[in-house]
Amino acid sequence: MIRLVKPYISFEDVEDNIREIFASGIHTKGVYSKLLPQKISEYTGAKHAFLTTSATTALSMCLRLVGVAKGQEVFISDFSFPASANVAEDLGAISILTDVSLDTYNMLPDNLQSTITRNTKAVIFVDALGNPSGLHEIAAICREHNIPLIEDAACSFGSSINGQKVGSIADLTCFSMHPRKLLTTGEGGAITTNNDEYAEALKIKLNHGANDEGSFVDYGFNYRMPEIACAMGCFQIDHIDEVVKERRLQYEMYCEHLVPLGFKPQIEEGGAYANRQSVVLSVPQGVSRNALIAALKERQIESTLGTYCLSATPYQRDQYDEIQPNAYWLEQNTITLPCYRGLPLEKVCQAIEDALVSL
Ligand SMILES: Cc1ncc(COP(=O)(O)O)c(C=O)c1O
Repeated sequence: MIRLVKPYISFEDVEDNIREIFASGIHTKGVYSKLLPQKISEYTGAKHAFLTTSATTALSMCLRLVGVAKGQEVFISDFSFPASANVAEDLGAISILTDVSLDTYNMLPDNLQSTITRNTKAVIFVDALGNPSGLHEIAAICREHNIPLIEDAACSFGSSINGQKVGSIADLTCFSMHPRKLLTTGEGGAITTNNDEYAEALKIKLNHGANDEGSFVDYGFNYRMPEIACAMGCFQIDHIDEVVKERRLQYEMYCEHLVPLGFKPQIEEGGAYANRQSVVLSVPQGVSRNALIAALKERQIESTLGTYCLSATPYQRDQYDEIQPNAYWLEQNTITLPCYRGLPLEKVCQAIEDALVSL
């Protein structure tokens, strides 16, 4: 079976570090837990970086930090993984699921500008599948209305806009280190910010509410990552640019083969440089995406949908009644294709071509 993804890290890459951790007996709050946020901060150019257990806990923490409470509105890109909205639902906030561009798959500025209200407390902009296109336009609207912008960059470590890395652009940026991501620690996440006040509060909130003197000045949580996971992250961050280059090359090769067959790529706009964490295209008009996934499975090739239209999930439909048309179209018509080092890409493209004939 040709799998969708394979991690870019092997046991040998971190074997020495793991031995060192076991020899020291320090499995949390050790050297790697300090080093990884430093490396994230250096790499992204963000002034501050903090680790969490996942992007979900990172997003949840950021919503609390900016004071989102019951009954307040949070605008959220509608084409994403459900975690992007679950965190707002969990606080009793009202998720305003906002439609996206059919080209970039990201939140459309007009949809935000025309519906923002005085009850809007935060915006969660999702870099769909790793693509940060449109972030600056959304940031400008947030600034105009004095609303904090939280970037769901779960998929976009290594992406940038005009050379500026994701992580140093929005007020708060949340990353994931799940195994589908390019930088993986098994599970894990991070928050970056340039804002000193947010950083000071996060330091306390992520330490059970204790300040540097050990006084419990707030309530807080434990979202720490273990040392072994941090060591994995430290290794991969030094190689992330190579990984991004490889994936972008594979994306281009897919496009060369598939665009002439009627597939459409996800577009990068305004200087965006996507890490291509997920290789996603929309299928040719008239082709059933689900039938294509099934036909590829018969040919021993794993593929899946692009991602979800949040407003069409059964949970969200019970809360709100409007399905966003572009996000829904993308959910139904996009496909994620295999991408990893050593992938027999020509073979996958040939299988797609054969499958299309058979549909
Ligand atoms: C856009 C987006 N946000 C949030 C998440 C949740 O990430 P995690 O599994 O690290 O909680 C994901 C997971 O795939 C995602 O794709």
